[in-house]
Amino acid sequence: MISSASDLPPRLGSLTFHGPLSAARADRMIARLAATEPADVLDIGCGWGELLLRVLEAAPMAKGAGIDINAEDLARGRALAGARGLADRVEFVEESALGTDRGPVDAILCLGSSQALCDPEQPHDPAAALRELRRLVRPGGRVVLGEGFWERTPTEVELAGMWPGANTGDHLSLGALVDLAVEAGFRPAWIETASAEEWEEFESGYRYDTEVWLAAHPGHPLAAETRERVDRQRSSWLNGYRRVLGIAYLTLVAVA
Ligand SMILES: C[S@@+](CC[C@H](N)C(=O)[O-])C[C@H]1O[C@@H](n2cnc3c(N)ncnc32)[C@H](O)[C@@H]1O
Repeated sequence: MISSASDLPPRLGSLTFHGPLSAARADRMIARLAATEPADVLDIGCGWGELLLRVLEAAPMAKGAGIDINAEDLARGRALAGARGLADRVEFVEESALGTDRGPVDAILCLGSSQALCDPEQPHDPAAALRELRRLVRPGGRVVLGEGFWERTPTEVELAGMWPGANTGDHLSLGALVDLAVEAGFRPAWIETASAEEWEEFESGYRYDTEVWLAAHPGHPLAAETRERVDRQRSSWLNGYRRVLGIAYLTLVAVA
């Protein structure tokens, strides 16, 4: 069978945000940010930038820039901006955030993407990412950071079920992460963490379209590799990081 574009396995179409974030939590974070009336908002590793677009809707005087290295997600962001009348207030730029000079700005969003600020050859370094975020925001400005942390120390069995090479050094505790934010020159104005329900919505939504596609296309030339990929992803969640890996949403204020 020759595959056409329309019968290829779908990608992330069921997700609103590319992370375990509910609309209700997003609304609260956006309200706090919009109340500070930012003039400019930078979204680091924006993907399709749904949160950035919602911030711009809530802060009508603000201009936004989203940077990412994924052209497909950026194109989705541009299409969403156009459909919501925001195209003249936001740009989606294909470039790496590493060492970016797009600061200082009044507000930064960095959700699930602080690795974009760090040396890709080195283990992830939240302290370095936080120093970069502080460099890129004006004194008194705000950063909304979505960052992984260990809800508790994982067992050896759980680590073996996660991603290749997973080890306890991959993340910090929530307390240690917030301490690093303070050391980097922020006050942690709001500290919240993704709920079990947000994780289940995200993990299921991440694969939903693909699972439905697999059920309908068992003989497709791409079915075997697609099945292998989603089975591996689901296992790494259910047999590895479920209820062990957390996501913290930190609203940080840059100390003057
Ligand atoms: C988990 S996604 C989060 C996307 C978005 N922040 C959200 O919450 O919906 C992580 C994003 O970081 C981007 N990314 C990874 N390395 C990057 C880099 N060096 N510069 C810019 N973006 C990068 C990826 O392409 C991906 O879109």
